[in-house]
Amino acid sequence: MAMQQLSLRWATLIVLLWAAVARAHTIITYPGYRGNNLLTNGTVAEANGLGVAYNSKNDSLYYPYGMEWIYPCGGMPTSTNRSYWPVGGGALAMQPGWFPGHETALIYINMGLGEVPENMSHTVLGPFQITGPSNNPYPGTFCLPQVPLPANISVKPGDFATIQVVEAAKHGAGLFNCVDIIFAENGDSKIAEVTTDNCFNSSDLSFQYVYTTSGIGSGAAMLQPPRHMWTAVVPFLLAAAFM
Ligand SMILES: *[C@@H]1O[C@H](CO)[C@@H](O)[C@H](O)[C@H]1NC(C)=O
Ligand SMILES: *[C@@H]1O[C@H](CO)[C@@H](O)[C@H](O)[C@H]1NC(C)=O
Ligand SMILES: *[C@@H]1O[C@H](CO)[C@@H](O)[C@H](O)[C@H]1NC(C)=O
Ligand SMILES: *[C@@H]1O[C@H](CO)[C@@H](O)[C@H](O)[C@H]1NC(C)=O
Ligand SMILES: *[C@@H]1O[C@H](CO)[C@@H](O)[C@H](O)[C@H]1NC(C)=O
Ligand SMILES: *[C@@H]1O[C@H](CO)[C@@H](O)[C@H](O)[C@H]1NC(C)=O
Repeated sequence: MAMQQLSLRWATLIVLLWAAVARAHTIITYPGYRGNNLLTNGTVAEANGLGVAYNSKNDSLYYPYGMEWIYPCGGMPTSTNRSYWPVGGGALAMQPGWFPGHETALIYINMGLGEVPENMSHTVLGPFQITGPSNNPYPGTFCLPQVPLPANISVKPGDFATIQVVEAAKHGAGLFNCVDIIFAENGDSKIAEVTTDNCFNSSDLSFQYVYTTSGIGSGAAMLQPPRHMWTAVVPFLLAAAFM
């Protein structure tokens, strides 16, 4: 009986995941992404323990843990199909639950400037914590309607940049995903409209803000402050829209 329930749950999960795949094939669902890097191939043994390894037999690369774990941008090169994004900052929606190990995760959003960014070191947001329904892969989307630009960076319409979302899993490893953008004036009609279909929060995800403090003192108490001191659970209402 318990087994049946379990496999039913898995079947449901798989159906949900496939619904998500059929719908989007994506991680950053708004404003877009470089391409599908939800890929795992080769074995850890074949790659001799590396995250990415070269297979000389047929001149190809193995990603035994998954391509998304490769810094930067989950192993995807700069794309030419850029999405328009406002010069004043704009919306960003993503699906954090594609891999196991993300019952809790820290999200960082950063930016690289230029056509082929030198680095992805300009901090936009983060870290903030999300809590998902389980440690198995799960469907669900969250959306931040107004992601700012990095501090002290100003851009003009026509400038190129890349937004990278980093998802540090419970175990500390990071998943990387990017979208290449071209800035446009706020409200420009070339920017894909932000709607409740492409920008919503699923009900099975919740957020905790992680506040940083300046000058953390010595002592274990400072490393694990009481929960209420550094997290605030922000409830939200919009329902999941996977089905
Ligand atoms: C860019 O092209 C790739 C490959 O065709 C596609 O998967 C991806 O969705 C495109 N991204 C945007 C932002 O159009
Ligand atoms: C390369 O060879 C490996 C086995 O050595 C195989 O699993 C893989 O599909 C091959 N890839 C390509 C692109 O031919
Ligand atoms: C693994 O997948 C990547 C991306 O599709 C491909 O380029 C590569 O050839 C594949 N590697 C093997 C060993 O099949
Ligand atoms: C990152 O690239 C920017 C240019 O976009 C440059 O100004 C900055 O010095 C670089 N930072 C690091 C840490 O390399
Ligand atoms: C932005 O500029 C202000 C004023 O010059 C400075 O105090 C601050 O440290 C800068 N922030 C970053 C992230 O560079
Ligand atoms: C989703 O939740 C975050 C955190 O509470 C919030 O900042 C954001 O505005 C919400 N998104 C939508 C579309 O309501």
